[in-house]
Amino acid sequence: MTADIIDGKAFAARVRGQVGEHVARLKEEHGLTPGLAVVLVGEDPASQVYVRSKGKMTTEVGMKSVEHKLDAATPEADLLALIEQLNRDKTIHGILVQLPLPKHLNEDLVINAIDPAKDVDGFHISNVGLLGTGQKSMVPCTPLGCLMMLRDYHGSLLGMDAVVIGRSNIVGKPMAQLLLGDSCTVTIAHSRTRDLADVVRRADIVVAAVGRAEMVPGDWIKAGATVIDVGINRIELPDGKTRLVGDVDFASCAAVAGAITPVPGGVGPMTIACLLANTLTACCRANGLAEPEGLTA
Ligand code: GUN
Repeated sequence: MTADIIDGKAFAARVRGQVGEHVARLKEEHGLTPGLAVVLVGEDPASQVYVRSKGKMTTEVGMKSVEHKLDAATPEADLLALIEQLNRDKTIHGILVQLPLPKHLNEDLVINAIDPAKDVDGFHISNVGLLGTGQKSMVPCTPLGCLMMLRDYHGSLLGMDAVVIGRSNIVGKPMAQLLLGDSCTVTIAHSRTRDLADVVRRADIVVAAVGRAEMVPGDWIKAGATVIDVGINRIELPDGKTRLVGDVDFASCAAVAGAITPVPGGVGPMTIACLLANTLTACCRANGLAEPEGLTA
């Protein structure tokens, strides 16, 4: 058996197209332009690449994009003051503070200073609590992207056995909540799970988000299961070159799975597409307008 490849790059382009059409309608019918502010503290190279890419795609869908680049030594009070200013700014509907922050800044304090209605990352404790109790919230972008791909491929997820490998606040935990919301039977496994192979073998849906290169081999996968690979790991090859790989061993998993997302070109592109979708959702909610269909949890 050879798995269907779930093309996240093409799916993300479709989602951005839908967001763009909705943004155009908001402008035409309501004179509204959704605005996203991204705050980057310091000069982490990977974060700089992400932030640039977010800014470009925000503009491409017709939204207002604002970037605040702060010095690595910025005092916490200055960062909190900027967040307060963005909270009050009526032209800004989404605020994202790029993580990780430099060590002297308290990440929880900073994230929880964002107005929950503008928290397009879905990291604020209010949004975490709302998601956990099945109420309307802002949903973290990466798990939202995974959910969209799963719904698109399967239609309904009702009654499926899902195993999420990884217990992070950004991916593992919210992913489990979303799958539960779609009536899956959910197991959260992690690097310390006993008999991890046997746990994963039960799954109709495997979401791998542990951050360990190629740690899930094909013989852990049930025949026909759907494998969503959230990992992005750079590994060095014998010739000294590097390559991006996921948390699953693609070749052996693709040989037994029913469907699988590649790395790169799977979950990655969906994350930014969902950030744009969340910004649009936040703008609609802030203005008492109907939410975009198919772009929320
Ligand atoms: N750093 C890596 N991924 C993310 C993300 O999804 N949101 C934020 N704010 N920072 C990140």
